[in-house]
Amino acid sequence: MRAYDLIYRKKTGGELDEEQIRWWVEGVTAGTLPPEQSSALLMAICWRGMSTAETLALTLAMRDSGARLDLSSVPGVKVDKHSTGGVGDKATLILGPIVAACGVPCAMFSGRGLGHTGGTVDKFSSIPGLKVELTEAEFLRSLKETGFANSAQTAAIAPADRKLYALRDVTATVESIPLITASIMSKKLAGGAEALVLDVKCGGAAFMKTREEAEALAKSMVAVGKAHGMKIRALITRMEEPLGWAIGNALEVMESVEILQGQHGDSVLARLSFRFAAEMLMAGGGAGTLRDAERLVSEAVASGCALEVLKRFVALNGGDAAALEDFSRLPQAAGQEVVRADRDGFVTAIDGRALGLVAMELGAGRRELTDLLDLGVGLRIHAPVGTRVKKDDPLVTLLLGGRRPADPGQVFSAFSLSTQVPPENPWLLGVVE
Ligand code: URA
Repeated sequence: MRAYDLIYRKKTGGELDEEQIRWWVEGVTAGTLPPEQSSALLMAICWRGMSTAETLALTLAMRDSGARLDLSSVPGVKVDKHSTGGVGDKATLILGPIVAACGVPCAMFSGRGLGHTGGTVDKFSSIPGLKVELTEAEFLRSLKETGFANSAQTAAIAPADRKLYALRDVTATVESIPLITASIMSKKLAGGAEALVLDVKCGGAAFMKTREEAEALAKSMVAVGKAHGMKIRALITRMEEPLGWAIGNALEVMESVEILQGQHGDSVLARLSFRFAAEMLMAGGGAGTLRDAERLVSEAVASGCALEVLKRFVALNGGDAAALEDFSRLPQAAGQEVVRADRDGFVTAIDGRALGLVAMELGAGRRELTDLLDLGVGLRIHAPVGTRVKKDDPLVTLLLGGRRPADPGQVFSAFSLSTQVPPENPWLLGVVE
């Protein structure tokens, strides 16, 4: 086989077969193909797209490029969730323990943050001592003993994805629905979950800016999951303003614990997290209807069982579970600065992407994968969309470490104020199944 022929075929609108795709992925993984040929093929895929059969073949070849977890020793349908990435999105920390508390094993692999979006692994890593990259044995033990396991993907999982992503990153080929689908789904399939609920974010602070793009990605991932026999469903959710009051790793742990304690129950973050937990319960066979699932979710929070699961998960994996009760044990910021409203009005919009970038500049996120984080810094939002503020009321507090934003005015200009009450925007935009 010659890479030239694959590139030519894709460039001229042809379809690649399973054998060709597997040969390419094996060559990428082994490092035997020149990067310029893989880059050319990636660009051809970007322009020409891929059929569902091609996308599935690419996903499976990438899954098989490394280790696969076998979760069959854990009884029950193992469920996972994936979010395409948002600002302030700490839903995994909330819904994972809830699902486990309801009796459905929740086996989750998460990522680290990059750019304006945060990553679940970074949020968990702000809990002192907690091991965030579990071995297979540790992952299984956590799942068996607490019903919940969350780990960073180890280097052994889908190595082809890391190699391809590095090429995509420098050749402007990240934005391709089949390539994103194969990248995400190969890692999820290698992680061993049998059911998956997807949160495809849509809006100015998301990867997918329009409803059409988000729907196309959701359909593509659902088609690949189904073709593989997975129970899968995608919810398309709005991502304009940050989710919740916290942006920053330790702060997001605090907000998650507060929600598991029954606070902020009507916030968009709580509603989204509870709905996803309910979807996961249904996917895992823990409830027959959405209504039943939502009742179980409320009970798991109200009884304190979900928070108990989180504490047990943290303690089992070396973390300081007492920090979930005493937030002073979590990493703290050294200083703070309050940004205030310059007039009376209603907050009609908050630019989540802009605030996510500020959080990154403070050290809560990474510009490059190798950047070191400051886990205590971030932003505390006082005035979510819809709040009526008076001149000089606080909009947001910056929790600062050694770094400051290059342009502090960015924080203020992320807030839109108006004399008009803003309409309420639905957080759930659609369901793809
Ligand atoms: N997240 C991934 O894991 N892969 C992509 O290609 C895009 C987002």
